Amino acid sequence: MDIDADTLRTIWLAEDGGGVDIIDQTRLPFEYSVVRLETMLEAAHAIADMLVRGAPLIGATAAYGIALAMREDTSDAHLDSAYRALLDARPTAVNLRWALDDMRALLRPLPTTKRLAAAYVRAREICEEDIAICSAIGDHGLEIIEAIWEKKDRQGPVNILTHCNAGWLATVKWGTATAPIYKAHQAGIPVHVWVDETRPRNQGAGLTAWELGRHNVPHTLIVDNAGGHVMQHGMVDLCIVGTDRTTRSGDVCNKIGTYLKALAARDNEVPFYVALPSPTIDWTISDGVRDIPIERRDSAEVTHVIGRDPQGAVVQVRITPDATDGANYAFDVTPAHLVSGLITEKGVSEASAQGLQALFPGRGGS
Ligand code: MRU
Repeated sequence: MDIDADTLRTIWLAEDGGGVDIIDQTRLPFEYSVVRLETMLEAAHAIADMLVRGAPLIGATAAYGIALAMREDTSDAHLDSAYRALLDARPTAVNLRWALDDMRALLRPLPTTKRLAAAYVRAREICEEDIAICSAIGDHGLEIIEAIWEKKDRQGPVNILTHCNAGWLATVKWGTATAPIYKAHQAGIPVHVWVDETRPRNQGAGLTAWELGRHNVPHTLIVDNAGGHVMQHGMVDLCIVGTDRTTRSGDVCNKIGTYLKALAARDNEVPFYVALPSPTIDWTISDGVRDIPIERRDSAEVTHVIGRDPQGAVVQVRITPDATDGANYAFDVTPAHLVSGLITEKGVSEASAQGLQALFPGRGGS
């Protein structure tokens, strides 16, 4: 399927002009199912229950969540309570706060009679901006892949390892980490992707593998612990991952296990790049390990695995003794010094305060 297709996106205004359609990602890869969000609370639940996930898509859904809230009641009180309910849906991806701040700053000064229409217009713009941003990330990341391809004397595929799903399913379209991969694939550069399964929710196995397969990008699934092994054996030319929150100094918070991949990459001199749209930068903080809130989800995600039985029913199977509990940290922080570069819509920067300030002048603070 052509990644450029207009219809290929994760969120869109429903034909009735009021509701918002999303892909229920909890059903993938087994079932492609579209769900209509009619209320702000449905949008908040879709984020919290991970029907939509991935930092940019969480932000886009929250923006439409505010529009849905304005359909219910355009008062200040409702705007504020919608802001709070949506913000509480998930803690780590800063795009959520970014989108909500953007929407509230726009709507608050407007008369209540103008808020509904303005909210829909801005939510749509946020989605379109995300598409443009991710496409630009793809163009900048493509240059990195091209350089590696040249360095390999155009021999064999460029082998890229990615973790979690930072693909088009995590954004409105294109993805962040996958945008350079899709652009390289379209440009005729042979690529092969090592897909980390990404326990416990298996975003790699279920989502990244699904979308790469739909676009005919060669890929191989590996268990999370195999990354170091394939790097040691020269089977990885480059790692590209996404991020849920990047500090102004370039620390990167992403799906649990990203840090271990960065350590293995450093030990094996494999370039480790992080692809991100600028709304993922939290300019208010500098120390990612100290200051980024790490989501903890239900321990049952760790003590059980989920799959489908031959009849197609979703089954959850326990893999531990009954008395064993699990700790489910959903994200970790990779310090800036382990990151080879940040691929943004403005270009590629060093993962540092200076690097980010050079790309986004005036944003960095101290
Ligand atoms: O828990 P998830 O599935 O929302 O986590 C998603 C990730 O960690 C992605 O890598 C990140 O949001 C970047 S998405 C372009």
